[in-house]
Amino acid sequence: MDIQESWQPILILGGEGGSVTILGKNIGNTEWVFKKRTNEVFSFKEMDNDQNIEDRGTRQIKKVIKVKPSIKQTMEGTNWEDAITMIEEFPLEQLSPKNVHPFFNKRIWDIVSKRSLSKYKLKRWAKACFPTITDEIFELYEALYASIHTVVLTGAGMSVESGIPDFRSKSGWWKNIDPLTVATVEALEENYDLFHEFYTVRLKTLGGCKPHEGHHILGKWEKKGLVHEIATQNVDGFHTMASSSQVDQLHGSIRTFRCHQCGSEASLDQFINKESCSLCNGKLRPNVVLFGEMLPEQAWNNALNHMQRANLVIVIGTSLKVYPVSQLPQMTNGKTIYINKEVNDLHSFFDLTIEGSAKETLSSVDQLIR
Ligand code: APR
Repeated sequence: MDIQESWQPILILGGEGGSVTILGKNIGNTEWVFKKRTNEVFSFKEMDNDQNIEDRGTRQIKKVIKVKPSIKQTMEGTNWEDAITMIEEFPLEQLSPKNVHPFFNKRIWDIVSKRSLSKYKLKRWAKACFPTITDEIFELYEALYASIHTVVLTGAGMSVESGIPDFRSKSGWWKNIDPLTVATVEALEENYDLFHEFYTVRLKTLGGCKPHEGHHILGKWEKKGLVHEIATQNVDGFHTMASSSQVDQLHGSIRTFRCHQCGSEASLDQFINKESCSLCNGKLRPNVVLFGEMLPEQAWNNALNHMQRANLVIVIGTSLKVYPVSQLPQMTNGKTIYINKEVNDLHSFFDLTIEGSAKETLSSVDQLIR
């Protein structure tokens, strides 16, 4: 078999008058060998004497010049480190990616994203490595690295891809249920059967669900120092379960319970079994914030403080219809980005809106994260 056939272009770099190709050949399992091919038209060569150091104040730029047309040059490499050497020797900021092999795209991006390229060039490389990247996804990626303090505000849309309905979409909880009949103190005190039934159904729905990739990505970004706090309206506890540690649950938690009268703790089983408080015989409830109730003071003050410090606020999966959380994004002087399945002109105050799903959008950006 003609071995030429098994050589594949791993990366093709286009320059003013030609191209450089890094070729790879899979020699079994995950082992590859590489070689570089520079076409006849040009090659770059760094001048090796000082006169050609262009001194631009703080930066010394080694001038590269075009040497006389070269014949086909090939350099063999036995592993990825050799391929990196072949790639790194070129002034990537002066060349454009024409082709990136999908098997090596992440590794090539890891090399390029560490170089100080112009925004325009870096975006071209991002799209060459990850063709599904949109301008908005790239802008969110850049904003994450440019920000010193990033806050994420999430709503029910963040958990829909975990299998939990939101409230106001066409398949949401409030489509067939009037929230005032089940999610208020009056409902608890005057129609406990309906109140209990509603939260029991929500607990059963939650039982079979777990955080999705988007929750875990936010947890990973916190560890990378890219996210500093999550303020959530969700009561499912998924951000904490997905290893985010700085989480403020502004609407409480459906996973813990108390007596509505005396406040003493209760268990899931006691609530599900519709038992009365063991101390005062009062009604048991989940620790969620019901309509008309005050938000947990510490969570609110913490979220507000983070918003006021934030350079970047990313709002994900909320209709922003419920006060006072709906006001939080306006409390920041930072850049604001809105990621939601439905985007309308009510969201025009955001610096950037991304119409899409929480999981897919976060996964798309995460491809670029180092
Ligand atoms: N990805 C992104 N956004 C989504 C997704 C998804 N997969 N699925 C739905 N959405 C969007 C919907 O288009 C909607 O705009 O998420 C938003 C969810 O809005 P709501 O259902 O109003 O939920 P939320 O904003 O969290 O409600 C706030 O209202 O009923 C109270 O206490 C409840 O905390 C809740 C509060």
